[in-house]
Amino acid sequence: MTSLDPVRLRHALAERLEKGGVLKDPAWRKAVEAVPRELFLPAFFTHGTGPDGLTYYTPVNRDTDENAWLTRVYRNETWVTQLDGHVTPGTADGPVTGFPTSSSTMPSTVVGMLESLDVDDGMNALEIGTGTGYSTGLMCHRLGEDNITSVEVDPAVSERADAALETAGYSTWTVTGDGLLGHPRNAPYDRTIATCAVRRIPYAWVRQTRPGGIILATVGPSSWSYGTGLAKLTVQEDGTAEGRIIGRTSFMPARAEAVIPLSGDLAARAAYADTERRTGVSPGLLDDWTPAFLAQLAAPGTQLVRAIGDGRETVYLFDTGREAFAALTLDEGEWTVRQGGPVALWGAIEKSLTAWQEAGEPDITAVRMQVTREGHAYWIGGRQITTPTRSRWIGDEPALRWRHRHQPLSG
Ligand SMILES: C[S@@+](CC[C@H](N)C(=O)[O-])C[C@H]1O[C@@H](n2cnc3c(N)ncnc32)[C@H](O)[C@@H]1O
Repeated sequence: MTSLDPVRLRHALAERLEKGGVLKDPAWRKAVEAVPRELFLPAFFTHGTGPDGLTYYTPVNRDTDENAWLTRVYRNETWVTQLDGHVTPGTADGPVTGFPTSSSTMPSTVVGMLESLDVDDGMNALEIGTGTGYSTGLMCHRLGEDNITSVEVDPAVSERADAALETAGYSTWTVTGDGLLGHPRNAPYDRTIATCAVRRIPYAWVRQTRPGGIILATVGPSSWSYGTGLAKLTVQEDGTAEGRIIGRTSFMPARAEAVIPLSGDLAARAAYADTERRTGVSPGLLDDWTPAFLAQLAAPGTQLVRAIGDGRETVYLFDTGREAFAALTLDEGEWTVRQGGPVALWGAIEKSLTAWQEAGEPDITAVRMQVTREGHAYWIGGRQITTPTRSRWIGDEPALRWRHRHQPLSG
């Protein structure tokens, strides 16, 4: 059978991305047409649901069926390349289950983010989350290999990406390390972009980005798998960064922040309540993206688990690090919440959800934010939900805000 031509597939992908309104800048189009995604995806996993309802990942490589492999490479899809931090298509000999820990993100998301970076010729950029190296390759093509520094936390992933980038003709700065620390050696950067999600923007990124420079990253991950937002911040002369959430995104969390899903006796984790009351708002709100995002800002790192027992639904919120919980149950059409531990998780979440409702339930893009050396603040609409702290307001309107302190880096 005749082999497919990767150049034609690449051009067709660029065409689809342009028609879909994602690819706008001709310079990025040239990059998509030039960078061979197949070099970054010699093998990957496809996935599907098994009869037991679990997701199974099946290895695919060019030896199985070259045309089928190449066609998939140029689909606008995310291809998982590693599970559980060590399982690769090369080590799995059949369908396997696991938790994706590295991938080549779908081109429309990668290109959409690159377009949002507002780059200009000659700029330098820091990328966090090299993954396969495909997005790094696009950036090298657009800005020049010497202007890109890409940090990947996983040594094996980093090594594969570096080799693929070399084969593609880009001898760039690939660094193995914890990207939450940035890479001070090549700073300052004009642009900082993360292709893994973070609970909060590390102040190290603000420090390492030039005043006037842009930071683009997905914030708000936890075990929820949704309710995350793409933050775009501009670094100010005074060493703070200000901006807003420009849309929804979904990325795998930074390694150090990944949450191990809870299992076992959930009721035992919620055995000792300090308080019990009716809720002010329904936890059903957490099914929606924007309230879920705001809830994660109000209670960072909290895990959400829904359980059915004795015919009734319980919504659990756990902050395992602080041994805090909230358990919400529906009784005769009314929700009751039991809370325990040093922080009232539902109390904090409820406050932000109530304020969001009072602000007219705006979309996630109404959220503005500020990162300072001391902490983070979030605003929505013209309402304030926490006591003002020493960070100044954005603009001059009093605003709804969430604030939490920097937590120590764990890597
Ligand atoms: C979605 S993939 C990146 C996709 C990649 N940009 C591409 O186009 O192929 C996310 C990557 O971030 C990496 N990562 C996770 N936490 C990190 C951290 N703290 N520092 C650097 N890289 C990290 C993961 O190992 C994974 O390879």
